[in-house]
Amino acid sequence: MKKRHLLGILAIVLSLSLFAMGCGSGQKAEPASKDGANTQSSDKAADKPADPIVIKFAHVTSPDSPKGKAADMFKQLVEERLAGKVKVEVYPSTQLLNDDKLIQELPKNTVQMGAPSATKLVGIDPAFQIVDLPFLFTSDEALYKFFDGEGGKVLSQKLEKGGLKLLAIWGNGSKHFSNSKVPLKSPEDFKGLKFRTQTGKVLDEQFATLGASAVPMAFSEVYVALQQGVVDGQENTFNNMDTQGYEEVQKYMTVSGHGRLDYPLVTGQKFWDGLPEDIRTELEKILVEVTAQQRLWADELNKASYEKMKNSGKMEIYELNADDIKKFQDAMQPVYDKFSDAIGKDLIELAKKSNE
Ligand code: LMR
Repeated sequence: MKKRHLLGILAIVLSLSLFAMGCGSGQKAEPASKDGANTQSSDKAADKPADPIVIKFAHVTSPDSPKGKAADMFKQLVEERLAGKVKVEVYPSTQLLNDDKLIQELPKNTVQMGAPSATKLVGIDPAFQIVDLPFLFTSDEALYKFFDGEGGKVLSQKLEKGGLKLLAIWGNGSKHFSNSKVPLKSPEDFKGLKFRTQTGKVLDEQFATLGASAVPMAFSEVYVALQQGVVDGQENTFNNMDTQGYEEVQKYMTVSGHGRLDYPLVTGQKFWDGLPEDIRTELEKILVEVTAQQRLWADELNKASYEKMKNSGKMEIYELNADDIKKFQDAMQPVYDKFSDAIGKDLIELAKKSNE
């Protein structure tokens, strides 16, 4: 096992124990206000300065991924512009908790911010799987147009029942396939293979239509599962494959762009509502800046990762052409037939319009 992964596992174990003790950063826990949000407290009797509000930002990718860099930029700007008032603790690489746990913990205010990939919000509403509908979004621009517009509004309202508030949409990119067994050039090549998926029935069905099977698994477990042959392949963005070192444990990559992996940046509704208004306003301003830069990083870093993996020559790479894509679209049509109602036909129409 690579040293990086061993260290990662140790870090996860350590931080989970700290998290269980309720003091992930080793710092005194913030007092909770009536609504459960951590607020600035001032000990007037002792005339002590107020403790800063602590924002724990937990995510699963590496610090040099588009999400990791943006989380660090957010920390830097917050601590410059709200010095002494707000402190941000960033926990990358699943050091604090995985995305499923994050989504459960945000409403409880044990962690305050995160950016799980959209499909992982399926437990709150099946519509979040829209990003997994095969070949639906045809570009980054289309994806942002949908999420920044009416589509994002609809999904943002759905988050309320999960106790979450949508703050922004951060990007990563299109997903591509990799595996250790055969070059994947046509739908028939997938027969009998096992693929790791993030979560959800749409991805199960996507692989079922190709005669393959899906094994949902946390991101932190994927490298070892690929290495040990627990699964044959996976689907992810260029940058996630690169920063996780999948080229060391996969022989073939197919550039397919068949689905999307991007991030609703979320916080707990109670935490957000409990913040003093001036702080909330400043955080919103900072997030506009960070989001613009995050999207540039998503584009740049994915392109750079693809070039890097191409040049390293460790994986054999096949780029689907227009005819290949047509065959995959036909083969995967049952995914639309089965899930359009659950995801919402209107929402799918909005997504299609964003491609225009
Ligand atoms: C995955 O689990 O593959 C992704 O959601 C990881 C991420 O956050 O990009």
